[in-house]
Amino acid sequence: MQLIDGKRIADEIKAEIKIEVDMMKSRGLRPPHLAAVLVGHDGGSETYVAHKIKACEQTGIKSTLIRYEDDITEAELLRRIDDLNADTDIDGFIVQLPLPKHIDEQKIIEAILPSKDVDGFHPVNVGRMMIGLPCFVSATPAGIMELLSRYRINTRGKHCVVLGRSNIVGKPVSILMSRKAAPGDATVTVCHSRTQNIPEITRQADIIIAALGQPDFVTADMVKEGAVIIDVGTTRVPSTETKSGWKLKGDVKFDEVAPKCSYITPVPGGVGPMTIVSLLRNTLQAAER
Ligand code: GUN
Repeated sequence: MQLIDGKRIADEIKAEIKIEVDMMKSRGLRPPHLAAVLVGHDGGSETYVAHKIKACEQTGIKSTLIRYEDDITEAELLRRIDDLNADTDIDGFIVQLPLPKHIDEQKIIEAILPSKDVDGFHPVNVGRMMIGLPCFVSATPAGIMELLSRYRINTRGKHCVVLGRSNIVGKPVSILMSRKAAPGDATVTVCHSRTQNIPEITRQADIIIAALGQPDFVTADMVKEGAVIIDVGTTRVPSTETKSGWKLKGDVKFDEVAPKCSYITPVPGGVGPMTIVSLLRNTLQAAER
């Protein structure tokens, strides 16, 4: 079994990004600039955004954090998005999800200019990704593809089972895995909450991408000997082992599944760090455009 070290790969990619940013600066260009909009005080969102800002600092990308209390109206947020769309000093921006219930997330996503949508959530970017045109690919699926690529994991003709059909992970990664490319060229099955015989299907998988958000969902009896396991789960569970009082838990029961696998991502330190560098990559790409 080989552990897929997302943290190490993410550090390598950050170093690559820093070189490109330094080159831009040495040519007299301003560094790429990412803005992040954070509404309210959701613990997970606070942590993710803090990691994104820190990663910008490490790579020389300029970042601006825009905070609102969770009573901001949808109209106010939409006005701010219009301003960010028009601001020529900002190459790309994200609105951290989830948003408070009174704000329509889809309306917010669609208000972002596709050329500044470094999260790759706008329907134009999703549609372009679907048919293989240049676009911003959303960060988590892009990070998964990068891990498969850097570990030279063969996906061609393999059966890939994706657990989960979210717009952020399950749907886009199922498209990327099936497209005519490397990594890609896989035969993809998408399972979700209404799928009736999940263990029977996962046992046929050469590659399992678990993105359900249900801790310990994938158990050893669901996994074929030699399978590749990509665990996208990041559920916060209470813990007495950490100072914060919580820890991240994946969708895979790691201790019993790992011995059966050829490759597996840990949680934390697997897909998570890759998500952040994919966002930086997209920001760099937005600036280069
Ligand atoms: N919430 C969970 N993941 C993400 C992400 O990648 N981008 C944004 N904007 N919100 C998220």
